Amino acid sequence: MKGIILAGGHGTRLYPLTKYISKQLLPIYDKPMIYYPLSVLMQSDIRDILIITNPEFVSIYQDLLGDGSHLGINIEYKIQLEPKGIAEAFILGEEFIGDDNVCLILGDNLFFGKSLSTLLLQCIKNINQNFSTIIGYEVEDPERFGVVEFDDKNHVIGIEEKPKIPKSNFAVTGLYFYTNDVIAYAKSLEPSDRGELEITDLNNMFIENKKMLIEMMDANKFKWLDSGTFMALHESSAFIMEQQKNSNSQIALLDEIAFLKGFISKDNLRNNLKNLSSDLQDYL
Ligand code: TTP
Repeated sequence: MKGIILAGGHGTRLYPLTKYISKQLLPIYDKPMIYYPLSVLMQSDIRDILIITNPEFVSIYQDLLGDGSHLGINIEYKIQLEPKGIAEAFILGEEFIGDDNVCLILGDNLFFGKSLSTLLLQCIKNINQNFSTIIGYEVEDPERFGVVEFDDKNHVIGIEEKPKIPKSNFAVTGLYFYTNDVIAYAKSLEPSDRGELEITDLNNMFIENKKMLIEMMDANKFKWLDSGTFMALHESSAFIMEQQKNSNSQIALLDEIAFLKGFISKDNLRNNLKNLSSDLQDYL
């Protein structure tokens, strides 16, 4: 299974910050935002990862994460010249994906929960049975998201993008697992009225073909944060700070995850310490 992190976009809701820095490099408490989605992929045992970003920022990501070998993973990079839609990830990533299945995570989406690994494992099981999988999360303001519509037997019958009158309170999060036919589906998409290749249109194709499952992320057990606004950025930072303080553990500390997952040795970990703050060095 390959992984893609989509880290481009305009980031207009965070202007002027994102005029000179990529949104997904902004700090969420003590780590760059992209560490959080990257940690989700690593927790899913996905070790072949493509980061897609804007031309002006790609070298900064390369400086930060290199080829991933210090984490025991492989990171490649691809430029998206213009933000032409989330679904373009599969066209830009065609060569990288090859014949594999693929997990896409949006670079500004943060996921937490003790049972996250179990949920991720279930998504991978679905994929192995040839079902793509999206994740639903109950929200109070569904009109801001892609919203899931269910039939009376609780089967998903479609997704509506930012509906004025939402048919449920379940939003589609920015974490998606697809079988390899996602490349062909993405190539067949037409741009929407706003000129983008829409992930919702892509998901609806899988739903129409009865090849899409939805896994629910219970909001009592999981937290999903999208850090696209100043308020959300602040809330995400506060949440991470609280969690780390209360649990005396670290969230999205990539070196720790790589070591615990067996991707790197103790010597490798020791070698990585020089790039961490003294507090994190002590912790590790
Ligand atoms: P959005 O939050 O929808 O868009 P944005 O990041 O450009 O922000 P704004 O609305 O403030 O202008 O994008 C969701 C995520 O997907 C975000 O991480 C950026 C990424 N993205 C791309 O990388 N390429 C794209 O073409 C699009 C549409 C989004």
